[in-house]
Amino acid sequence: MVGNWEKRIAITGGAGFVGSNLLLYMVPRYSRYLFVNIDCLTYAGNLSNLASIEHAPNYRFVKLTVNDYKSLARCFAEFDINAVIHFAAETHVDRSIFGPADFISTNIAGTFNLLELARQRFDDGVDFRFHHISTDEVFGSLGEDGAFTEESPYRPNSPYSASKAGSDHLVRAYHRTYRLDTVISHCCNNFGPYQFPEKLVPLVINNALEGKPIPIYGNGRNIRDWLYIEDHCRALDVIFHRGVAGRAYAVSARNEYRNIDLVRRICRLVDEIKGGGPRERLIEFVSDRPGHDQRYAIDPSRIENELGWKAVHQFPEALRKTAEWYISHREWLDRCVSGEYLKYYEQVYTNR
Ligand code: NAD
Ligand code: TYD
Repeated sequence: MVGNWEKRIAITGGAGFVGSNLLLYMVPRYSRYLFVNIDCLTYAGNLSNLASIEHAPNYRFVKLTVNDYKSLARCFAEFDINAVIHFAAETHVDRSIFGPADFISTNIAGTFNLLELARQRFDDGVDFRFHHISTDEVFGSLGEDGAFTEESPYRPNSPYSASKAGSDHLVRAYHRTYRLDTVISHCCNNFGPYQFPEKLVPLVINNALEGKPIPIYGNGRNIRDWLYIEDHCRALDVIFHRGVAGRAYAVSARNEYRNIDLVRRICRLVDEIKGGGPRERLIEFVSDRPGHDQRYAIDPSRIENELGWKAVHQFPEALRKTAEWYISHREWLDRCVSGEYLKYYEQVYTNR
């Protein structure tokens, strides 16, 4: 029985890094919404992230892949879903290079399934909102100057970003063709608790703690634009509630760092917190990622001016908090890096 909820929101990929942070942020804040977490729990999904809300009256978990259209349809009917915040995706660029197939099926075909279900409900008269979580990577790579905006041309360079671009185009088409109420957010690189340690920030913290080599791809001068996860969650809240239908919003705090500078910074933080070091000695330059995008940077003027969002966290404090979180949650890291992932990592690393 569904009950009298003001909104019934399917959060796809809610056991992953951004999805679980959003659920931890939103479930206690919106007690009149029902949050249905749809996640098939790949290596990147971790239900223990959600332990503090798993018994909340306005939270449900359904183990389901977005590739299973029939079961998704049953789930949407059972919970009378009237909104989607769509995170579920294969997300790691390196994995997309070694094996792109899952990226095509989950990121493109999975998004198509969700859009079709949303369209049917909208056609049946349901007031439906579809918030699609995209990335800045769909815009490709920047030179030394400038920043991406929502109007930048799509120029994806990896199978990951190409699959995200494909899903963005479908979302856009469903708005233009069927008038489905959609919003898209393009966020830069996030960091914070619960990020799977194949991504740069938690990987460096983990290897620094374990005394393992810290691989830097190429010359380390590639630049990423970094946003603390809590600022991203606040942006998603604002976009979901107040974003204009058919519009996209780019999200960033204008924090650009070269990989090598960020990695050195993290090493120094771990030295300060744990003692010992210098862990910078663990840095190893390894062969470059094929098609490695040189620079990402986002101009967030639209979300700042139109929706009044601004990042509130300062980068140095947020990075320190992040390092402290992983250091005090070593068992979480250990669980992630054991078993299958360890085999994968060793294979990828020794092949570089
Ligand atoms: P993640 O890899 O940590 O989590 C992905 C989640 O999706 C996991 O819980 C996984 O089990 C689930 N999932 C994967 N395939 C699925 C399927 N077929 N059916 C159902 N669930 C499935 O990813 P993340 O970093 O949390 O990213 C979430 C979204 O945000 C993605 O769409 C990503 O493109 C986007 N994004 C992430 C960042 C970032 O810095 N992390 C930046 C911009 C955009
Ligand atoms: P990553 O966290 O994979 O995010 P994305 O590729 O989606 O931006 O990587 C961030 C940057 O760090 C990217 O330029 C690749 C680089 N990198 C390394 O140098 N070494 C590593 O071990 C990893 C995982 C990434």
